[in-house]
Amino acid sequence: MKGIILAGGTGSRLFPITEGVSKQLMPIYDKPMIFYPLSTLMSAGIRDILLISTEEDQASFKRLLGDGSKFGVNIKYVIQPSPDGLAQAFLLDKEFIKDESVAMILGDNIFYGANMTDKLLEAKTNAENGKATIFGYQVKDPERFGIMEINSEGKVLSVEEKPEHPKSDYAITGLYFYPSDVVSHAEKVEPSARGELEITTLNDFYLQEDRLQSELLGDGYTWYDTGTFESMNEASNMIKSVETQGNRLICSPEVIAYNNGWLDKNILQKRAELLSKNTYGKYLENIIKKGR
Ligand code: G1P
Repeated sequence: MKGIILAGGTGSRLFPITEGVSKQLMPIYDKPMIFYPLSTLMSAGIRDILLISTEEDQASFKRLLGDGSKFGVNIKYVIQPSPDGLAQAFLLDKEFIKDESVAMILGDNIFYGANMTDKLLEAKTNAENGKATIFGYQVKDPERFGIMEINSEGKVLSVEEKPEHPKSDYAITGLYFYPSDVVSHAEKVEPSARGELEITTLNDFYLQEDRLQSELLGDGYTWYDTGTFESMNEASNMIKSVETQGNRLICSPEVIAYNNGWLDKNILQKRAELLSKNTYGKYLENIIKKGR
C-alpha cells in the first residue's frame, strides 16, 4: 500500500503566522505538524510516501524530512501547482501509485487514540479487498466539513461536502483509504461549484458501488483539523498533556519506525544526539536504552 500526504495550500486562514512558512511546518507542541500525519501513515505500516506541497514550500519539506531514511521510510515529493481539490492528490503522480491501494491523509490532520493502529490496519485490509474506508468524528460545526450520514449499523447512507443542512454531525476526517482503482475513479471526478475536485465526490463513487466503509472514532479518540489558531493551540495542549502526564512521546515517526523494526539503532542514536537538548531527544535516548 502507498501513502500520500497532501500538504499544499496557502495557509491563508493562519496568516500572519503562515505568511513566511508552510502551515504544515508549524509546531504542534514539540513536533512540526507534518510529523503527525506522517506517523499516522507509518502506524498503518506504510513506507512508500508521496508528499504533495506547493512549489515554494517543497525545499523546506525536503530539508526537514529528506528522503525519509531517518524515519525508515521512502519519501517522494511532488508539486501541486494550485489547490484544485483533495481528489487531485491521486492524479499528480500516477507512476507512484501504479496499481496499488492508497491511504491519503491531509497534512494538517492529527489523529490520536489507543486503538488507532487497529483501525488503520483494518482500513488497509479493506482497501486490499476492494473497499474504501472513511473515518467519522462527531463535531459541533458539521457545516464546515464533509459529512457522512450513517444508519444504526454504521452503514454509510450518504456523503456531502459542507452541506448547509447537515444530515448528521459526523465529519469525514482527512484520512482516506482506497483500493487500487482509485486513480481511474479520481479521473472521473468533475470540478464542483467551488471549482475543486472534491474528495466527497470520489467517496460518493465508492458509495454508489457499495464499496464504502465507515469507521467511527468515538470515545477515546481525538481528531484535530489544525487549520485555525484555536485548533492548533488545542492540539498542542492535548499533545503536551498526554506526553507530560505519561512521560512519553506520541506520534513520533522515529519511535514508530524503531518499534516497527524499520530503523537501525545507530540511526536512532544519531537522531537522539541531534535532539539531545530537549525532551524529544531524551525520550529517544530512553527507548534506545530500553530496547524495542
Ligand atoms: C477538507 C474536505 C472535507 C473534510 C476536511 C477534513 O475540507 O473537503 O470533506 O471534512 O478536509 O479536514 P477543507 O479542509 O478543504 O475545508
